[in-house]
Amino acid sequence: MGIQFDESSRMFHLSNRFYSYILKIMENGQPGHLYFGKHVKGNGSFDYLSERAERSMSHYYRENDYSLTLEGVMHEFPAYGNGDFRHPAVTVRQQNGSTISEFEYVSYTVTSGKPKLEGLPATYCEKEDEAETLHLKLKDRVTGVSAELLYTVFRDYPALARSVRFMNEGKEPVWLEDAMSFSLDLPDQDYEWMQFSGAWGRERFLKERRLAKGIQSVESTRGNSSHYQNPFIVLRRPDTNEQTGEAFGFSLIYSGNFLIQAEVDAWDVTRLLIGINPFHFSWKLEPGKIFQTPEAVAVYSDSGLNSMSQTFHNIFRSRLVRGYWRERPRPVLINSWEAMEFNISEEKLLRLAKCASECGIEMLVLDDGWFGKRSNDHQGLGDWDAVRDCLPDGIAALADKVERLHMKFGIWIEPEMLNRDSELFRKHEDWVIRTPERRMSPCRNEFVLDLGRCEVIDYLYDVLSKLLCSAKISYIKWDMNRSITELYSAVLPGDRQGEAFHRYILGLYQLYERLTNRFPEVLFESCASGGGRFDAGLLYYSPQGWLSDDTDAMERLKIQYGTSFCYPLSSFGNHVSMSPNRQLLRKTSLSTRANVAAFGTFGYEMDLTELAPEELNEIKIQVKAMKEKRDLFQFGTFFRLMSPFEGNITAWMVVSPDRKRAIIGWYRFMNEVNAPFHRIRLMGLIPDCRYRVEGSGPQNELVLGGDELMYIGLITTDSSANGGCPPEEMQGGDFDSRLYCLTAEN
Ligand code: GLA
Repeated sequence: MGIQFDESSRMFHLSNRFYSYILKIMENGQPGHLYFGKHVKGNGSFDYLSERAERSMSHYYRENDYSLTLEGVMHEFPAYGNGDFRHPAVTVRQQNGSTISEFEYVSYTVTSGKPKLEGLPATYCEKEDEAETLHLKLKDRVTGVSAELLYTVFRDYPALARSVRFMNEGKEPVWLEDAMSFSLDLPDQDYEWMQFSGAWGRERFLKERRLAKGIQSVESTRGNSSHYQNPFIVLRRPDTNEQTGEAFGFSLIYSGNFLIQAEVDAWDVTRLLIGINPFHFSWKLEPGKIFQTPEAVAVYSDSGLNSMSQTFHNIFRSRLVRGYWRERPRPVLINSWEAMEFNISEEKLLRLAKCASECGIEMLVLDDGWFGKRSNDHQGLGDWDAVRDCLPDGIAALADKVERLHMKFGIWIEPEMLNRDSELFRKHEDWVIRTPERRMSPCRNEFVLDLGRCEVIDYLYDVLSKLLCSAKISYIKWDMNRSITELYSAVLPGDRQGEAFHRYILGLYQLYERLTNRFPEVLFESCASGGGRFDAGLLYYSPQGWLSDDTDAMERLKIQYGTSFCYPLSSFGNHVSMSPNRQLLRKTSLSTRANVAAFGTFGYEMDLTELAPEELNEIKIQVKAMKEKRDLFQFGTFFRLMSPFEGNITAWMVVSPDRKRAIIGWYRFMNEVNAPFHRIRLMGLIPDCRYRVEGSGPQNELVLGGDELMYIGLITTDSSANGGCPPEEMQGGDFDSRLYCLTAEN
């Protein structure tokens, strides 16, 4: 790993054993981009990469000098309006209305390790020698605004982190209108763009398309990263698959309005911009003040998409997630929501807890409905200091009783929102986000507190701290069930209203930071009507998140599959729910539901007290297996094998760090008749090892070589291959699933 600067060519070569990232200070003082990709040694100069051409209709940098046109070069930190007509990484508006700027090289330093980003989530190092950071200082001469581009190269990961720290070193205020975290000009457009899009109940479905001339983007304008798009995309070469080929992944560590955009210009250069969405963003920077952008993480892979995802999993799991729960196996829980919704009582909860405890489940999570007058979703939201009358002995007593059943106790909150019919609204209507003289748009009967205000954060911190101190609460499910409308902050002047969305997110992060610092052993799970804010930003505070409100096992295959491109299994909140499923009325077996949910943090969300003894027995077996294998299910190396977006079969697997144990999940949507023979080629095993195969499938109890399992494959053919199989010999049916466990024998 290293950051080299060649004085004579003013070239920076950032590299580790995986990749090279090369940039150069151009003859006009602006930083130009030369290369990002597989590691190259080079022999000092990469100047030959600074290709130039005289093209008709070019707008040149200087008069009578046709050597430099800003639209004809690759940039590191482009501004608009100086001859480059593509979308910019930075726009600074001056008091006189001008929006032209030119950021030129001032100086650089290289530091070991990685600086903390004040108030923002970011990847981190534990030891100085894990990373090196380039601080490249640029300045716009006219406004005096400086921009420090921060690039961190990690020693152990093919990952590069970048953010920008602006400082107004001038004499007048300015407004930042584009302040992108990362911009990258790639020399061609030969990529497939992969995005993870959806809506409530079907989050992060994989969508792919070929890059084309013009702009393609994903974004959020809702105040939260959203169910609709995720702040993560992949660019892969057309021939790249899960195992081979080049891919770049880009993740923004941010939970608010974001933009990830690829603009392909007339000469096939692809400009990628990643950062806070400039739409409705503007930040006033007074002289002497600093603005730090969120961090973007780029991952390079020359060995396919699985390897790219594994890098994200590793770095996010161990250098983004923090604290007590980072490496700890997560408790098996039972959540009250789909079992009871608002119809809770202490007696019902304890009955559920007792039954769960007998099944070996380790934690009861009391979901919505425990506070204020919250008997439905029209009222009570915000009243965290009052317990609902259906829990007459209070939360502390309930938590004690649950603990006496040898279980931990967790609770649901939605601190950012409130109902009009709540004590909090009556007392503090002034804290609600609304635009003067305009109506407020409700969503789920909720309105939003202005988290950009210090007094709101202090209030929430106090009331939630009291709750957490008042009872033995081991887990918090932090929900957020709407986006922001009629945005306006009562505490900001007119020329600062463009800051309100970002200030909200900074307030959210501050609240999370204060609470997680004060209660380091409480396990936080983020949630936003399911997966409406499932992003890398929140992973810094809550190591796991509820993936989706859709708990149907077959739909979850797609959600889990799409989510796995960026996020580690240890961050997946997965529950087994009732059949028929609440969202789809689909009937699936208990084993299929558990076989899907097992790959992540695991729990149940159903009324166990209504189950038949055989079903409870099956759950006992599932819980026992999960406890034995959760190190693998949550922290193993994950490989996608077959995609639910492509065919009838989905398959994936996890492998232990020593590659001696593995679990394969196999799932079939529809049963077939007279079907072909099937086999799946496994990944990540040791070729010379002999593995015992255990599971419910055809090759059960065989011992096979790692090479056979990877190069020939695991046979998964079953009775569906027989046309005339007698019914009693038929296996499976629709929505069938199997887990195969592999254990090395040598
Ligand atoms: C949201 C969550 C659910 C549940 C309900 C409670 O929809 O995503 O899991 O907690 O709120 O109101």
